[in-house]
Amino acid sequence: MIMKPDAVKRQDMGYILSRVESAGFTVRRLEMKQLTEKEAQEFYKVHAERPFFGSLVSFMTSGPVVVGWLERDNAVESWRQLIGATNPAEAAVGTIRADIAESLEANSAHGSDSDENAEIELNFFFGSKGFSFQRLFKSFGVK
Ligand code: RTP
Ligand code: MG
Repeated sequence: MIMKPDAVKRQDMGYILSRVESAGFTVRRLEMKQLTEKEAQEFYKVHAERPFFGSLVSFMTSGPVVVGWLERDNAVESWRQLIGATNPAEAAVGTIRADIAESLEANSAHGSDSDENAEIELNFFFGSKGFSFQRLFKSFGVK
């Protein structure tokens, strides 16, 4: 998951975390970070050709985000149900986006859309789970 810049700015981190925990997710990793333009472009690259891409990238880099690794049975679908539809105006009552999101773009929370993409996104933010020679070499400055 990602707590998007609008949520962090409004001091809704605690609110989102309480929804995470009461829905039975275990928080495996949690990190606040400022995405670079490059990182935001890479993260949302499936939308690169969409008209809203530039605006999405500036929004996602407009302030710090909190990225999280959440664990639960059926995690991807459960989390997407909990955050609600992309457009908060269409999100079901009681979902996080219906409760706190500002707009279609500033919609407070991200959720991976499949197990496969969840793995890609977790690797993107937290690195691979197992041992990696590549990372070891990188830590010594070897490319
Ligand atoms: P996310 O990836 O952030 O969890 O959101 P999602 O699956 O519900 O929606 P997606 O289609 O993947 O869109 C990614 C994010 O782009 C922004 N957006 N803006 N202006 C627009 O028409 C528009 N459409 C989407 C939203 O921030 C959306 O969450
Ligand atoms: Mg998406």
